[in-house]
Amino acid sequence: MRTRVGIVGAGPAGLLLGHLLAQRGVDAVIVENRSRDYVEARIRAGVLEQGTVDLLTKAGLGERLHREGLRHDGVNLQWPGERARLDFPALTGKSVWVYGQTEVVKDLVQARLDAALPLHFEVTETVVADLETDRPTLSFTDSSGARQVLDCDVVVGADGFHGPSRGAIPEPRRQTWERTYPYAWLGILAHVAPSTDELIYAWHPRGFAMHSMRSHQVSRLYLQVDPTERIEDWSDDRIWTELQTRLSLDGWSLETGPVFDKGITPMRSFVSSPMRHGRLFLAGDAAHIVPPTGAKGLNLAVADVALLSRALVALLRDGNARLADTYEDTALQRVWRTTYFSSWMTTMLHTTSDDPFDHQLQLAQLRQVFSSSAAATLLAENYVGLPLGE
Ligand code: FAD
Ligand code: DHB
Repeated sequence: MRTRVGIVGAGPAGLLLGHLLAQRGVDAVIVENRSRDYVEARIRAGVLEQGTVDLLTKAGLGERLHREGLRHDGVNLQWPGERARLDFPALTGKSVWVYGQTEVVKDLVQARLDAALPLHFEVTETVVADLETDRPTLSFTDSSGARQVLDCDVVVGADGFHGPSRGAIPEPRRQTWERTYPYAWLGILAHVAPSTDELIYAWHPRGFAMHSMRSHQVSRLYLQVDPTERIEDWSDDRIWTELQTRLSLDGWSLETGPVFDKGITPMRSFVSSPMRHGRLFLAGDAAHIVPPTGAKGLNLAVADVALLSRALVALLRDGNARLADTYEDTALQRVWRTTYFSSWMTTMLHTTSDDPFDHQLQLAQLRQVFSSSAAATLLAENYVGLPLGE
């Protein structure tokens, strides 16, 4: 088999890249080791930057997003006795949208199937090879058990943190930077109307808590827990009680409801370079991970793809290699700025020690966001997202 771009992974990065390439007349094949049901149900991110929404809309993927997504013009930051709001349009002229990653993935899969473009679920033994030649290959065993070899012009690793693509870059060429945080997020989804119109990020001496949502009927909430915690030890009652303690504010109450999903996610920052080796390009979580505070992971994957789609169209359709050659440098600038923002939000809001000095430093930073318009603007600019392509 022959295609121009072989894409490993049908997460947001791989699916969106396939979509943007198809719109510009560049063929691609996407292979995914999980089932369609699995990738469409995998609960992850929930907040889309303005630039992500604009890109999806321009790509013809905005119909359900605009119908069901919730535009948010601000977020709340909280610490004991205080809940303060950042007004995004006033500070930046932009907003964010609450629309689950599950929904983005469903829209992308549906668009690909409607267009009858190749997307193979439940493949095994994915191998990328011959990356330093003009004819790299993507091999896999399809769901019927047949071995397939795709001859490509370019292979893209959009296969997330655990996928095989990053490891196909020779070890001596690779450099990684990593930080594992000493806390994790326990996340729940519950059938209860959100108790707030906008997200609440709460600092509390017992640990961070957050109130988010997926719709007017479904709330998403998170608690900072120790990474060694086991989800079996957290009954729904225990979770709600802890959320009520950490999110409490005079005159406000948290509504509870039936929990239908819960899990614990470790938190790390990770950046791997290069993002290109010969004819292999990496995008999204395959090359970098940010901790979830600030909701950047999915948006950063989309930003990579915005750059990479342009670079591959120029390379493969117009024979111009300039953007492909600068992809890594351009992408990494945003990656590091987002790594910095996510790490800053994380360390400002999570409590690790009983050291009262550390706590006062965190509170001073939080208060500064509301006493300095420069600090407020900086947080808001990063939260709503840097312009795509920068
Ligand atoms: P992925 O979504 O990981 O997609 C990669 C795809 O490649 C997967 O479908 C995988 O099955 C497939 N794949 C892997 N190996 C192979 C193989 N050998 N062959 C074929 N296919 C393969 N971000 C936020 O902003 N907010 C959040 O609240 C948040 N929560 C998260 C919770 C969890 C548990 C995780 C893991 C991530 C979370 N993120 C969050 C991050 C965000 O979801 C990711 O940044 C985003 O999914 C990146 O998209 P991607 O397409 O690069 O990678
Ligand atoms: C959500 C996740 C985040 O990491 C975040 O900062 C805000 C919201 C969410 O899942 O809704």
